[in-house]
Amino acid sequence: MNAPAFRAATDGSSSPVVISVKNVSKRFGEAKSNQSVLALDNVSLDIRKGEFVCLLGPSGCGKSTLLNIIGGLMDASSGSARIDGREIKGPTPDAISFVFQESTLFPWYTIVENFNIALKFQGVPQSEWSDRTMKALKSVGMATFANHYPNQLSVGMRQRVNMARGIALKTDVLLMDEPFAALDEQTRMVLGEDLSTLLAETGKTIVFVTHSLAEAVFLSDRIIVMTARPGRIKTVVEVGEPHPRSPDFMLEPRFSELRNELYALLRDEIRAATAAMRDPVSAPVSLHGG
Ligand SMILES: Nc1ncnc2c1ncn2[C@@H]1O[C@H](COP(=O)(O)OP(=O)(O)OP(=O)(O)O)[C@@H](O)[C@H]1O
Ligand SMILES: [Mg+2]
Repeated sequence: MNAPAFRAATDGSSSPVVISVKNVSKRFGEAKSNQSVLALDNVSLDIRKGEFVCLLGPSGCGKSTLLNIIGGLMDASSGSARIDGREIKGPTPDAISFVFQESTLFPWYTIVENFNIALKFQGVPQSEWSDRTMKALKSVGMATFANHYPNQLSVGMRQRVNMARGIALKTDVLLMDEPFAALDEQTRMVLGEDLSTLLAETGKTIVFVTHSLAEAVFLSDRIIVMTARPGRIKTVVEVGEPHPRSPDFMLEPRFSELRNELYALLRDEIRAATAAMRDPVSAPVSLHGG
């Protein structure tokens, strides 16, 4: 792999806005019904080109809902979301790709064939398929497995491949919903480093959901801390460290300070969310965090 490009920390003002979320609320079910759930309440957020933005908040606060609205997989109940100025009214595979927690590789196709299907779907010319696929697989150390089937790989390897597929696609925006949640901590850390390098090289804009505070600090330019449901933006934390990030960043006092700041911000929200979900008589409280 070539030496990674060095990407300055996003200063939040120089790059154009790619994703714009304005006053988005989302209610599941009829407002009058006592079964209805207000998942998001008046969320507004601008994301700039090349930014790495993390959504952090207690379970059930609407992170996946917000990602699905940006990805056009779900409509907002009110408000709007835009990509490059266009209102998002459905999936925009030419502009936005998803990487989910579970590997979404077809088991009956090899890794290369899986990539080809995605690239074909995006309208990438066939002449580019091989180059894009091999470059992306190399960047996550999986090039030698190109002709394997997904079930011949470990869970961690499949998730590497899943991430590489997102990188290989032509879209500038990648939405990642807890992509490393099923992996062990060491693999997560190494994949996080790889992702930071890929970000510096490709300049993609990434919106990333995680429950891990360390992952959020290590990867993000900006961390959007959300409240317990209904999800609102509680505060925004700037990290201000250039990509690619070295593991040494985790040893700096600033890293621990940011992580502690996030925990302090989230604690009450996690308690509120847990209390709302808890069986009022018996269930023990369990904190969710990283
Ligand atoms: N399709 C749906 N129908 C009804 N309710 C839904 C639907 N999708 C999500 N919800 C509700 O909306 C709220 C937000 O859900 P969401 O999945 O966005 O939370 P989250 O922040 O991603 O949680 P987690 O961290 O556990 O993944 C939850 O109360 C959930 O039950
Ligand atoms: Mg979720």
